[in-house]
Amino acid sequence: MTFPLIAKTVSGLEDVLTHELETLGATDIMKLNRAVSFTADAEMMYRINYACRTALRILKPLFHFEILEQKDLYEHIYEFPWEDYLDAEHSISIDAVISYTVFTNSQFVAQRSKDAIVDRLREKLGKRPSVDLENPDLKINVHLFKDSCTVALDSSGQSLHRRGYRKITGPAPINEVLAAGLVKLSEWDTIAPLFDPMCGSGTLLIEAAMLAKNMPAGYFREEWGFMKWRDFDAALWEKVKEDCRTQISAVKLNIHGSDRAERAIESARENLRFTGLYDDISVEVGSFEESTPPFETGFIISNPPYDERLKIEDSLVFYKMIGDTLKRKYAGYTAWFISSDLESIKFIGLRPSRRIPVFNGPLECRFVKFEMFAGKKGYPDAGK
Ligand SMILES: C[S@@+](CC[C@H](N)C(=O)[O-])C[C@H]1O[C@@H](n2cnc3c(N)ncnc32)[C@H](O)[C@@H]1O
Repeated sequence: MTFPLIAKTVSGLEDVLTHELETLGATDIMKLNRAVSFTADAEMMYRINYACRTALRILKPLFHFEILEQKDLYEHIYEFPWEDYLDAEHSISIDAVISYTVFTNSQFVAQRSKDAIVDRLREKLGKRPSVDLENPDLKINVHLFKDSCTVALDSSGQSLHRRGYRKITGPAPINEVLAAGLVKLSEWDTIAPLFDPMCGSGTLLIEAAMLAKNMPAGYFREEWGFMKWRDFDAALWEKVKEDCRTQISAVKLNIHGSDRAERAIESARENLRFTGLYDDISVEVGSFEESTPPFETGFIISNPPYDERLKIEDSLVFYKMIGDTLKRKYAGYTAWFISSDLESIKFIGLRPSRRIPVFNGPLECRFVKFEMFAGKKGYPDAGK
């Protein structure tokens, strides 16, 4: 039996998510804003939760209704047979997302939705379920857009960017879903050598290696929301995991990372030890400006500091250094950088051959590509 689902993602990754869902076998796929809707059966829902790299969560809509005035929210949610999904001993949590509605406060929407469910169960079962924001038995998503409300179960539970491998992080780690999305957007062929010269705790390196080896995104994760649902099919879930695991490739990779901060490299090493990927990924302490290219040619994908998150003394000088280093040492490489510092990017001083808009949390960024031609052709100048 198939049913409709919605995969949520980061703004700018809708196309790569659409492609991933197609490849995984979802049907009726439709691109939305920061989300993709599709149809799947339970097996496919498990598979997508386990393997998909660019979805943040997979929602299963339960019912929709119209909201004309505030009291409609409580009344419609109260009417739903929650006792078919929950026992009184269970815990719940509500995520509310609102835009252009009669409500102005998403916390209030979550609170009223919770009241309706709790009141319904107290009425039907004589006891009320508890609220557990950290690790609920049932995570419920209430989405209000204009006068339409959709109530969905969150089949992922914790956001899927929580892969389970990142044991230690630096001060501004990139979200794993965004990192995987950038690797896909870069069109890295998974064979060319790959270098992240500002690798921090190694997220981009690990996501690239997992992609190249076809390791499921959730390989190191232990819990998903659907595992606590009444209709959870443990045997089917084991089969899905086994099936995905048999497709992991033993290919040996050429991936290297460096960072000028010793602590960042220590945390990258710790994460690599945990994932067992240290044969494929090497890391070392060192600044980009003083680096020796680790490969003759290859790809650079990197997430340098942006002014908003990591203070760099003079971001224009810093981005100029990136450009100068690329020109001096990295002929033959294809380099991609993500940054929200749209002014400073210009100081790289090279003309990007692609500029892809993407969000890193609330920060509007560009993912920019520079092709560093080898030989006499010279470098495309930005012509500022
Ligand atoms: C935004 S963080 C990268 C985070 C990383 N993607 C992760 O997920 O952990 C930027 C990194 O650039 C490093 N960095 C700053 N200036 C550098 C330089 N000149 N050379 C090498 N690394 C540098 C910082 O130490 C920091 O770890």
